[in-house]
Formats: sequence, C-alpha cells, structure tokens
Amino acid sequence: MKPPCKECDPLWREEFSVRKAGEAYVARCQFTKFLTLTSLGMFVGNLWILAKSFVSRQVSYPEQAIANLGEIPVGGVKVFQYPNPGEQCLLIRTGADEYAAYSQKCTHLSCAVYYSAENNRIECPCHEGYFSIRDGSVLQGPPTRPLPRVVLTRRNGQLIALGMDAEPES
Ligand code: FES
Repeated sequence: MKPPCKECDPLWREEFSVRKAGEAYVARCQFTKFLTLTSLGMFVGNLWILAKSFVSRQVSYPEQAIANLGEIPVGGVKVFQYPNPGEQCLLIRTGADEYAAYSQKCTHLSCAVYYSAENNRIECPCHEGYFSIRDGSVLQGPPTRPLPRVVLTRRNGQLIALGMDAEPES
C-alpha cells in the first residue's frame, strides 16, 4: 500500500479532518483565514447598515389632503392614514384656527394613542404615557421619544399633510 503523502492530500481533507484528534486542531493559517473572513463580513455588514441609514434619511412623503378646514369642531379629532395606508394618524383641532396632527402609534410599544380633550394631551392607554398636544413631546413616561408629528399646510380650504417630523418644534 502506498504511504499517505501530505503534499498530495486534497485541501478538503486537511480542513475537514476525519480523525477525532484532528477536529480540535486549528492551524494558524486557518485561524487567520477565519479572522479575516469574519472581519470582512462585519465590514460589509457595517457598510450595508450605513448605506441603509443614508437611504432611509432621504424619505420623501406624499402630499395628501386630510380634511377640509372647519370639518371637525374645536376639540374634535379625525383619524386618517398617512403616509401609507394602515398607518393611522390623528388630526386634532386644538383651537378655532389651530390644528395638530400626530402618528397614532405610541413610541413606547406601539399602542394606539388618543386625544384627551379633558386633559388637553395625547394619552396612551397601555402604560399611561402622555404626550404634549403642542409638539408631541413626552409629558410622562415610559415613552422616551416624542410622537412623530405630521407636517401640515393649508391650501384651498383644505389641510394638507406634507410629511412626518419626529422631532418636536422648539
Ligand atoms: S405603549 Fe404607550 S405607553 Fe407603553
């Protein structure tokens, strides 16, 4: 029988040992290869996250008429969907000539918030998170982020949604 020749062995036999003792053995070059490939994978992953965050920052929103001026009474609320179907928002008439609109999804665990006219604030029934009607900022935890605000404008007797703004106005 011909003696085994190390130089003639195929690479797979070296990397996938058939002997139990060889399974735990990791050659320096194999370890280096593992570190190099892992680092490369992490580098590519970070590039992908960076590219994705760059693209998501440039989101464009549709213009959408959401109500006629005077359609809801002072203190009244209208639910509408913006910017996509199924994404509920609240339009609140806060004064004779004042409107505010926010996402209805609580920034804590996504429960549907509602407007409390009695307390003049937006409340989440799940964990008693309260938001300011003025700018959507958190009045009481557990939410830590403000409610995303819908940017509004008026045109031809209508309220038009222009986009979403997650930061409250200062
Ligand atoms: S989901 Fe709104 S406070 Fe927790």
